[in-house]
Amino acid sequence: DLRKEIEQLETLFTVDTTKLKQITDHFVKELEKGLSVEGGSIPMNPTWVMSFPSGYETGTYLALDMGGTNLRVCQITLTEQKSEFDIIQSKYRMPEELKTGEADELWEYIADCLMQFLHNHHGDISKMEKLPLGFTFSYPATQNYVDEGVLQRWTKGFDIAGVEGHNVVPMFEAALARRGVPIKLSALINDTTGTLIASAYTDNKMKIGCIFGTGCNAAYMEDCGSIPKLAHLNLPPETPMAINCEWGAFDNEHKVLPRTPYDVIIDKDSPRPGQQAFEKMIAGLYLGEVFRLVMVDLHDNRETHIFPGQDVSKLRKAYTLDSSFLSAIEEDPFENLSETFDLFQSKLGIQPSGPELELIRRTAELIGTRAARLSACGVSAISIKKGYKTCHVGADGSVFNKYPHFKARGAQALREILDWPEKQDPGEDDPIEILAAEDGSGVGAALIAALTLERVKAGN
Ligand code: BG6
Ligand code: GLC
Repeated sequence: DLRKEIEQLETLFTVDTTKLKQITDHFVKELEKGLSVEGGSIPMNPTWVMSFPSGYETGTYLALDMGGTNLRVCQITLTEQKSEFDIIQSKYRMPEELKTGEADELWEYIADCLMQFLHNHHGDISKMEKLPLGFTFSYPATQNYVDEGVLQRWTKGFDIAGVEGHNVVPMFEAALARRGVPIKLSALINDTTGTLIASAYTDNKMKIGCIFGTGCNAAYMEDCGSIPKLAHLNLPPETPMAINCEWGAFDNEHKVLPRTPYDVIIDKDSPRPGQQAFEKMIAGLYLGEVFRLVMVDLHDNRETHIFPGQDVSKLRKAYTLDSSFLSAIEEDPFENLSETFDLFQSKLGIQPSGPELELIRRTAELIGTRAARLSACGVSAISIKKGYKTCHVGADGSVFNKYPHFKARGAQALREILDWPEKQDPGEDDPIEILAAEDGSGVGAALIAALTLERVKAGN
């Protein structure tokens, strides 16, 4: 009987309404702190994206999206028709070994993918006209201009020497120049900023862009008058400025987040201990690992000793389970959890008993629910800071799009944090809704490149 173990896990992983509110209150203060001159844990990076699109932007742009899992190259044509565009794209795998390899190998690989795309779609690149490129580089970067970015630190398990503290644009451009690729990098953007801008292009209620994927982060539009760390530039106070929060770094001081011993291990064994405390409890990269650590602990250290007599050597390998493994457990439609049994058997060589299967399912639910509920604290905090009573939030990423119940659990937590009354009619929209976004790293990057060129032409 594993009921006692389940109860203990419930206590560890459940974040109740009071705690959600406490986290949100602290979050609001930390957002402010990040904008201050002294700064705080949350970087709150100004992006130099200083307007929403009108819907009437035009032109052809390239977009390069260097995410955690894929590398994507797109060519986007923004048409004369309001908010309409054509897109062609190719996906390339982001080889695992590049993430912890040498900087040169990374830039060479990306440049090669881009060149291959151009060859396929434009033929002889020496005859091609120079196209503007929006580069989606989804890591925290300090920007004094829209077309540069000094990497503050790698996140999402990347660990490549010689890049942190450097402007990544010249490194990337040098690799392009070596190949004679006719490209002008117009904007370096974050995936969240792209998501914000692309979403606002088709829906003017969109005020926040979020990624719930390998990593977790958000961007929103601030007024320059509310950004003390930019005060020395004397920008008109009402000028808009998109802020890439980098909220994954929320509570690196461990003041409010209800961390479990498993979260502590994840942090300690990561390439950047002490960083991304919030992200490590929420993002897709870590969900499967939290689950794995719970399973190993219950096997090794508890009286109950799950999977007795079985070979758990595969389960001992760090990061062997990704969030799709948890998704599959949560989606198992069978009363006897036979799909979960098959998964454990095929992936881990373990044959769980009936009560163990119940415990496995409940653990997955607890981890997935905690992630969705904590995410809602970030969305609530931005909404409270900006005074948004109603708005749309554009969201992208594998966890948002694929993890079962993530949206509904997040919506429920928003309702609890923001004290919305119960719905009169189930079809009624929530005041703040998190909706699937437009493709921010394609369309968003193209729009930001277009807005940048407009600004250059206007002499700002
Ligand atoms: C993709 C975007 O849709 O989602 C990327 O194109 C973004 O820019 C990614 O980084 C986030 O999701 P994941 O799950 O790939 O990290
Ligand atoms: C990590 C990165 C951030 C990105 C997020 C989602 O938090 O630091 O820049 O937006 O992952 O991809």
